[in-house]
Amino acid sequence: MKVAVLPGDGIGKEVVPVAHEVLKSALPGAEFVPVDAGQERYLREGVAITAEDMATIRSCNCVLFGAVTTPPGDRPYRSIILGLRQDLELYANVRPFRSGPVSPRQVDFVLYRENSEDLYLGLEDVGADEVRSTRVITRKASERIARAACQRPGIKKLTIVHKANVLRADGLFLEACSGVARASNVPYEDMLVDAAAYNFIKNPGRFDTIVTTNMFGDILSDEAAALVGSLGLSPSANIGDRYALFEPVHGSAPDIAGRGIANPVAAVLSAKMLLDWAGQGKAAQAVQEAVDKALRAGILTPDLGGRHTTSDLGAAILKNLEALL
Ligand code: NAI
Ligand code: MG
Repeated sequence: MKVAVLPGDGIGKEVVPVAHEVLKSALPGAEFVPVDAGQERYLREGVAITAEDMATIRSCNCVLFGAVTTPPGDRPYRSIILGLRQDLELYANVRPFRSGPVSPRQVDFVLYRENSEDLYLGLEDVGADEVRSTRVITRKASERIARAACQRPGIKKLTIVHKANVLRADGLFLEACSGVARASNVPYEDMLVDAAAYNFIKNPGRFDTIVTTNMFGDILSDEAAALVGSLGLSPSANIGDRYALFEPVHGSAPDIAGRGIANPVAAVLSAKMLLDWAGQGKAAQAVQEAVDKALRAGILTPDLGGRHTTSDLGAAILKNLEALL
């Protein structure tokens, strides 16, 4: 197993090293290949990622990713994470939201975010006073993400989240996902995205498996992370047929970067998802237990109301893990 390790910018550089240590313990035979990419590299070297870096990444089986800073407005470089998702054809963005020892609300669902199209293709006609963005939704990509969701082991119910009352594209998404659910014998319902945002707060325990389009999935993910307790607790997997990339749901968090207080759990649980993907279910379970035990012991970073540092929590997780493996 060859893993590209791309910490990126800001707190990515603080939390990925913890996840990397976890993988070194839990996946002893793996080879790790460092890749430096992002805004910080751009500011230093005038390039954010090179074709050579992409070749290095393609020579690996998967990527452990942190976060990259993408400034708004005119950009000298393309968003690295969107580029990787598209170039490596990582069409399924799988985001589990599972309450743990310190969560304010009880939730246990997985959100499947379509990762290859929608407004994130960057098809924009930019004028001085008007910008037109093209939203692309295809039957093929909608069916593909619905199939990934319906194949979730132990799925009880699929909730298809859309805005088909206003957008024709979402009518197509709803039709495609419903067809896949029926063909897969998975019970399903559909919900307008605004109602979903409401129900996440009102009754989050009702959700089991959600499938939605790229932008709705992006927005609802951060809302779901708040139910679990913090963006610092929420991991994700970007899965394609050939490659996979594992990353926290959060970004580079410039507001806290450099202070050593970022919560490393989202990155560590992303490494746990890598282990599951690699068929190392027992090691993945050990990582989850190591995290839960550290949180139960009250080793909490400030986002969870504690006073501990990234390295305090990282060291506690690693110590628990050594005892479990
Ligand atoms: P963000 O997710 O970086 O931060 C949102 C809020 O959550 C901040 O207050 C931050 O301090 C807090 N937070 C996030 N992760 C945390 C952690 N591990 N521990 C404790 N607190 C945490 O979103 P924001 O600030 O809107 O974006 C910052 C930059 O990150 C932007 O340039 C954005 O484009 C980029 N970004 C990159 C992503 C990626 O590379 N996959 C994903 C999301 C944003
Ligand atoms: Mg996001």
